[in-house]
Amino acid sequence: MKNRSLALLGILALASAAAAWPVASVFMVPGVAAQSEPATKPTMPKYGSDGGLQLPQDWRQWVFAGSSLGLSYTQGAQPGMEMFHETLMEPSAYKHFAATGTFREGTMLVLALHGTGEGVLPSRRGRFAAELHGVEMAVKDSSRRPEGWAYYNFGGMDGLRNTARAMPKESCYSCHIQHAKRDNVFLQFYPLLEEVAPRPRAAHVAEPPSAVAAAHTPAAQAPAASPALAIKGLDPVLLVAGQEEMGKPEIIADHKGRRYQFVSEPNRARFAGEPDTYSIQNDSCPVVVGAPVDPSFFAVHERRIYGFATADCVEQFKSHPAEYVKP
Ligand code: HEC
Repeated sequence: MKNRSLALLGILALASAAAAWPVASVFMVPGVAAQSEPATKPTMPKYGSDGGLQLPQDWRQWVFAGSSLGLSYTQGAQPGMEMFHETLMEPSAYKHFAATGTFREGTMLVLALHGTGEGVLPSRRGRFAAELHGVEMAVKDSSRRPEGWAYYNFGGMDGLRNTARAMPKESCYSCHIQHAKRDNVFLQFYPLLEEVAPRPRAAHVAEPPSAVAAAHTPAAQAPAASPALAIKGLDPVLLVAGQEEMGKPEIIADHKGRRYQFVSEPNRARFAGEPDTYSIQNDSCPVVVGAPVDPSFFAVHERRIYGFATADCVEQFKSHPAEYVKP
């Protein structure tokens, strides 16, 4: 009887979920009751006796942060095997982020990987997230990892594991620290999440009065309502010296509607003293003349940073920079 009602529960859960989950075992873990903690109490990561992270049973009820289709970055990903990725955030950490724009200690994020489905009536075209292929987690816990964030893989197709050991730094952490927009989290792919958070406060760098700039760059006069991150967050002071190092999202300066990040306060001070030396030199693309600069496409030439409209323009410029930079 007990088994039958458990199975029935499983079937009900399957029927009510939007997608078909192949891992019914998740619903049948004994002794797992829905947590009904007061909303104010932060939910923190739990670890087993072997130090492995426990997969929170209610992760499917977490807050939706963003999704992507077919983003590929893992080693050994089969080409052509597209998946939906959904990023979910533990609700109490989500609330903290919405209030402060920061990921507090104990923040947990899930990345759910779903295969694609199509041709199910009444759909005639398009694809939807179908069977679960994997669950990964990112956890910020400096008490366990000096570098803060740790990454876990709970398996997928053949069933989810209840606990997972932290992955080696070079498998996951190194890409996140290098490429993610804010504090190891890929905010650049989660507009929904980014929009709920206040922006970190920036030191405003006063623009030197320049009649030429005023006449030729009307865009630069517009109020910098939401500055775009320049040069992918690299420190511009180091970049002009030939060194590529990510600036910190908390050490920033806004200049001509763009946001720059720095590795240190002294570098920010140097930038503030000479913003025209260290910032992107141009507002319109030197290669596709007239096209606006996207501040994430850039190249350094003779200790100056130039911006471009597209990645192709950067390549073009690098092959003969002298053609584009008039002395
Ligand atoms: C080469 C870069 C790269 C590597 C290596 C990498 N990731 Fe990610 N990760 C991403 C990108 C890009 C996203 C953005 C979301 C997406 O994939 O849709 C992401 C998102 C995530 C998220 C959602 C939260 C967040 O931080 O944005 C988790 C959880 C995650 N990855 C876990 C892992 C795990 C576990 C590993 C190691 C097995 C790993 N990642 C390795 C690039 C990487």
